[in-house]
Amino acid sequence: MSDTTFRLIYRSRSLIPAETRKAVLGEIFSSARSNNKRQQITGALLLSGDYFVQALEGDEQAVQALYEHIAKDDRHEDVTVVDERRLDERTFGKWSMAQVSDDGGADIPLLTNRDKGGITRKAADPTTADQDVVLDYMHDVAQS
Ligand SMILES: Cc1cc2nc3c(=O)[nH]c(=O)nc-3n(C[C@H](O)[C@H](O)[C@H](O)COP(=O)(O)O)c2cc1C
Repeated sequence: MSDTTFRLIYRSRSLIPAETRKAVLGEIFSSARSNNKRQQITGALLLSGDYFVQALEGDEQAVQALYEHIAKDDRHEDVTVVDERRLDERTFGKWSMAQVSDDGGADIPLLTNRDKGGITRKAADPTTADQDVVLDYMHDVAQS
């Protein structure tokens, strides 16, 4: 992995009907993972309610090109970049595309802790402090 990494985070509104959501998400993750692996892109994709929030990281040109490609996908709309920056290292380097979910059954399940108003991660596969900051941000963006 290169020393400088570019990361783009966008939000969009899902147009996938509830009945086909599981199957369509399966297709998206399977093509995302094989394609991203080839392009050395890593990241995380959260679907919360009707909103997608996706972090894409890797070579800047490759990330921008992939973003342009994904933005044209008719399975979502109102695709808006919410954060773009250079990083010293990847946040989600171990996933070609991690599935993040707030209803369990994902690579990174987000468990809402209502008392504290924050989010806690399942202890079985703990996330790093760096990942938690970005995941909290992605979760906030999905709610806003
Ligand atoms: C929310 C969302 C996230 C996606 N993320 C990726 C991704 O990370 N990588 C990827 O290759 N395709 C991703 N896709 C799928 C692409 O839009 C596209 O369908 C796929 O790359 C196949 O493109 P092709 O039909 O031109 O080969 C995503 C689609 C959606 C709706």
